[in-house]
Amino acid sequence: MSQAGGVTRVMAGLRPSGDLHLGNYLGALRNMVELQERYACFFEIADWHMLTTGYEDTAGLRRAVEDMLLAWLGAGIDPERAVVFVQSDVPEHAELALLLGMVTPLSWLERVPTYKEQLRELAGREIATYGFLGYPVLQTADILAYRAEGVPVGRDQLPHLEIAREIARRFNHLYGPVFPEPQAMLTESPVVPGTDGRKMSKSYGNTLPLDAPTEEIRGRIRTMVTDPRKVRRHDPGHPEVCPVFALHQALADAGAVAEIEAGCRSGELGCVDCKARLTGEVEAVLEPMRERRSRVREADVRDILAAGAGQARAEARETLEETREAMRLWRS
Ligand code: TRP
Repeated sequence: MSQAGGVTRVMAGLRPSGDLHLGNYLGALRNMVELQERYACFFEIADWHMLTTGYEDTAGLRRAVEDMLLAWLGAGIDPERAVVFVQSDVPEHAELALLLGMVTPLSWLERVPTYKEQLRELAGREIATYGFLGYPVLQTADILAYRAEGVPVGRDQLPHLEIAREIARRFNHLYGPVFPEPQAMLTESPVVPGTDGRKMSKSYGNTLPLDAPTEEIRGRIRTMVTDPRKVRRHDPGHPEVCPVFALHQALADAGAVAEIEAGCRSGELGCVDCKARLTGEVEAVLEPMRERRSRVREADVRDILAAGAGQARAEARETLEETREAMRLWRS
């Protein structure tokens, strides 16, 4: 099986933000399902990272963790192949984050683009906390705890990966080689617009949720915005501006996409039919997910996460032993 340059262990984390949607599947989950076939994978539900910006309201956190796991299992992530666990279930991450924090210059954290951006965006809420500034250190600890060489991320996470590499390098330089420098495995994710044409995002309320029933999916697609210049059925359309077409591109094979494009441009394919076709494509993704999910029982969720935490802790503890040894920390 093919492996990217020197990568054997892969670590991925996702924040349990709830309400996973098609964009999350195409952008991350689908890729994780493939990675588990080729690498030793550690897949983490990053609930501590939710606290960095959402510490006041934790009422829905456990539910969000469960939902995340269900979405993962639905997508085909297999706990027999990948170690699947919750971040807060593995307290070793916290010890490692503390130690790595000792060698991380404040200036590295302050210059992360997402840091200043979010401070501005979430102004009004008190998020200028120690925990929030330390977000990338905690993420680095997640990755280095498993000595992962590869981390599948989207573009937005590249600054965090860069910090992880810098921290690993600095630690190794100071105390000897303990950590590989993790490389980003950039996920080539398609553009996934939501029903209103903006990026599909929970905060815009424009999503196709992974756990929505068929009728709801059909309804949401039926009311999607399309090319505003295609008013009547036989008007020629402009697929390049149509979010329905962008979703076809993300889901259908090249031949089908070409056919849809030609039909839209010529005016032969009307929006109603085009959307019905898209519903079919989305359902072809969601139906097997519903099926897999429906087989998961409540007790399975606990069992899977407990087993995953056990495996993750064993790995992380070994790394910590070496880390403490390298730093010459006291051992009783
Ligand atoms: N910061 C990541 C995100 O928002 C989540 C994350 C936490 C993560 N720990 C990680 C990603 C470790 C990769 C590796 O998506």
